[in-house]
Amino acid sequence: MTNATITGWGKAMPPATLSNDDLAKIVKTSDEWITTRTGIKERRISHVDVSDMAAVAAHHALAAAGLVASDLDLIIVCTCTADSTIPSTASRVQEILGATGCAALDLNAACSGFIYGLVVGTNMIKAGTNSKVLIVGAEKLSYHLNFADRSTAVLFGDGAGAVILEATEDDVGVLASELGLDGDARDLLAIEVTGTKGTRQSADPAQSGIVMNGQEVFRRAVTTMGDSAVRVVEESGLSLGDVDLLIPHQANSRIIDATARRLKLEPAKVFVNIGSYGNTSAATIPVAIAEAVEQGRVEPGAVIVFAAFGAGLSWAAAALKWGDRVEPVSTSDAALPTTDKTAMELIQPNIDFFGLA
Ligand code: ACO
Repeated sequence: MTNATITGWGKAMPPATLSNDDLAKIVKTSDEWITTRTGIKERRISHVDVSDMAAVAAHHALAAAGLVASDLDLIIVCTCTADSTIPSTASRVQEILGATGCAALDLNAACSGFIYGLVVGTNMIKAGTNSKVLIVGAEKLSYHLNFADRSTAVLFGDGAGAVILEATEDDVGVLASELGLDGDARDLLAIEVTGTKGTRQSADPAQSGIVMNGQEVFRRAVTTMGDSAVRVVEESGLSLGDVDLLIPHQANSRIIDATARRLKLEPAKVFVNIGSYGNTSAATIPVAIAEAVEQGRVEPGAVIVFAAFGAGLSWAAAALKWGDRVEPVSTSDAALPTTDKTAMELIQPNIDFFGLA
């Protein structure tokens, strides 16, 4: 039976770093509050578009797989912060890579987006429609940060991660998955005015930032991520003791800890990088995959569980068996353009637009 296995991985994190102490200079907050309530110490602020970050991550993933862009037959860019409404961010990624002619689409399931993309890509390969698929999670959430709202401004950051999925006859890849969404709770987390539902000249700038009922999203995320992670392990025919690594969405370290407890996993089997990047939505899991492999945390044949939760309210989980190779076939020197701007300078347009509390 044809399966889909991850053969390449890569990331692109913008260099400008905004620390909790930087935030405390403009927002009524503190490093102590942000660290203890979320686990976040700093986040990256991008000076380039989502597609630029996505393309650099993709170059690294292609090199790790030993492929060139023209080998690809499908590109899925998972993002809730697209460069433009049309054309898709995926179209720009295809153009930058030079993967002319292959299918390409954006997929928006917010923070659950990468797992949705992984499952769609896997099933396209299993159906025989595609054989070499690039899946990117890329976000520029900093564009929407409203520094007058301390309950959201401290949580999010920018970045991109990518994987290559290839057809294989080996018994590897996604073993079980679950995708879901509770549309009746969609107002708990929203950026409203950038869609056609919004007004062209927004009367209220706050509505073009992220608006979130954090406590309710937290309550639902804790339950749903743990439950869906346990279910995909059971559906795989495995036991919790077979799980080698949990790579969860990185929204809040307390949500990650609760998910790990449900899976009865010791901290050494949980990948956490939220301290460095905050919540980068669809980018979090592919960035974490790239870092986990680079750090030697993924063994050949490892059983990895992914779980995520986000706007929608969407959720997703997958249990995956890694293939034989944990070393890149080759490497790429692709990099984002340099910038002289500090993170504080890069967020100044947000402060000018939204104001400060
Ligand atoms: N600094 C200092 N104090 C703050 C801050 C801040 N940055 N933010 C809120 N507070 C205050 C509140 O005003 C409140 O004060 P009060 O008691 O005087 O009223 C107090 O801290 C407690 O606020 P809570 O909202 O109860 O804080 P909580 O512990 O719930 O943490 C948080 C808030 C971090 C937002 C948490 O609820 C959370 O992580 N929610 C989930 C977010 C998430 O998972 N999003 C997922 C998807 S995102 C996507 O899909 C794009």
